[in-house]
Amino acid sequence: MTEIQLKVNGSVEAVDVEPWVSLLDLLRERLGLTGPKKGCDQGACGACTVLANGRRINACLALAVQYDGSEITTIEGVTHPLQEAFVRHDGFQCGYCTPGQICSAIGMLAEYEAGMPSAVTESDELTETEIRERMSGNLCRCGAYNGIMDAILDVAGQDAR
Ligand code: FES
Ligand code: FES
Repeated sequence: MTEIQLKVNGSVEAVDVEPWVSLLDLLRERLGLTGPKKGCDQGACGACTVLANGRRINACLALAVQYDGSEITTIEGVTHPLQEAFVRHDGFQCGYCTPGQICSAIGMLAEYEAGMPSAVTESDELTETEIRERMSGNLCRCGAYNGIMDAILDVAGQDAR
């Protein structure tokens, strides 16, 4: 066991963890934060996306001990216009992927603002193609992609399609 300290949604948490415990399991099973979802547990769906020091990560692929001293934000700690935009544009159906979609979109917009390119970047414009590429790590089994896209476009200051 190793004691680590995390700042989770603004509260400092000191926890003893085995070195093999994922950040996702720590958040869900020890801290009771069940917003981040376990979809695949192998980095393929994005349902577990949280923000670590402001950057989006798949919490299922992260070992908790690696994040000792970090600031973690889960959907429970998010207050962002994207949340209302998802409601306005029907960006979800069952809602299982939604916490990950919103955390990922927050991280994605920050990456874009910081000038980080994607595999399809051709200009400075945050196009629909650009958003689809940058959000491709977040799957939605309900197929709410059109609403998700409209919500992100709305918050990014562009007209929904
Ligand atoms: S649960 Fe982490 S990517 Fe699917
Ligand atoms: S809203 Fe159901 S999986 Fe995305």
